[in-house]
Amino acid sequence: MIELQDLSCQFGESRAVDRINLTINTGELCVLVGRSGCGKSTTLRLINRLIPRSSGQIRIDDQDVEQFDARQLRLGMGYAIQGTGLFPHWTVARNIAMVPRLLGWSRQRIDTRIRELLELFDLDPATAARYPHQLSGGQAQRVGVARSLAADPPILLMDEPFGALDAITREALQNEMLRIQSTLRKTVVFVTHDIDEALKLGDRIAVMDQGQILQHDTPSTLLREPASEFVDRLFGTGDRGLKLASLYPVSTVMTPTKDAVSTSMTTIPHDESVRQALSLMVWHDTHALTVMDDRREPIGVVRWDQLAGGDRNA
Ligand SMILES: Nc1ncnc2c1ncn2[C@@H]1O[C@H](COP(=O)(O)OP(=O)(O)OP(=O)(O)O)[C@@H](O)[C@H]1O
Ligand SMILES: [Mg+2]
Repeated sequence: MIELQDLSCQFGESRAVDRINLTINTGELCVLVGRSGCGKSTTLRLINRLIPRSSGQIRIDDQDVEQFDARQLRLGMGYAIQGTGLFPHWTVARNIAMVPRLLGWSRQRIDTRIRELLELFDLDPATAARYPHQLSGGQAQRVGVARSLAADPPILLMDEPFGALDAITREALQNEMLRIQSTLRKTVVFVTHDIDEALKLGDRIAVMDQGQILQHDTPSTLLREPASEFVDRLFGTGDRGLKLASLYPVSTVMTPTKDAVSTSMTTIPHDESVRQALSLMVWHDTHALTVMDDRREPIGVVRWDQLAGGDRNA
């Protein structure tokens, strides 16, 4: 668990982080959002002690981080730096291997891990021997994120990790992130400017402005009950209903049925969102869809007039 208590960071006259309180439970993914310069990156750097705090406390599993050796502390945290932060004179392989080497992993274990990560991030194995300046922006960013995961740390600090990626690669990595969360349950602090990404990945989202946290809530609560006009504007513009509908799987609104269901209707996988159901109905000009399970067996029906429900507690 990460706890920030009355945490501040002062640069000269200005406070980049201004008395914030934030608790991120073990296994939780917390997203930080807010305008440029509001203190998101500074908050991450305070957590791994790359910069000193001016006042307040940072506790990890009930221990003040000042009590840890700074180097040991950072070895236990993956840090994907905003804008990649790769070492320019090191190859991709050496960049990825940075923390495992410091931890004394064997050559073989490191090589296996590098191969695994390149594959996971859809990078050609030959990329390993290249230098950062020989990569595209999106490739470099993926190497930066791969490096943060290399030693499988329990805590991940990710600063706009998918910002430079095309929509297809970004969606694939977001889904990979969700998979990692459902299996390995890391404690993650994730910065993004993409509100849909925040809603998709965040267990809870902290909205920052001018160094302060305005609201820290679940995606659903932020959309339904924004605590201020600023939060409302950040999340609400135009398609609030569609954003909400993207949070719930269609299985939460369907009518389950044990009897045979007509498969002549358009079908939708049970874990797709209500938003996707809406889209399919509009596209196929239909008022009902058959919901399919993972084995592609029909398990229920969802109708147009059920779509507004959704899981209100999700
Ligand atoms: N080392 C530093 N010295 C002085 N001021 C700094 C330093 N680092 C950050 N700042 C200032 O602190 C404020 C917060 O910066 P920070 O990098 O945390 O913003 P951010 O929310 O990550 O913004 P962005 O979305 O643009 O990345 C900014 O006004 C920035 O100029
Ligand atoms: Mg930043």
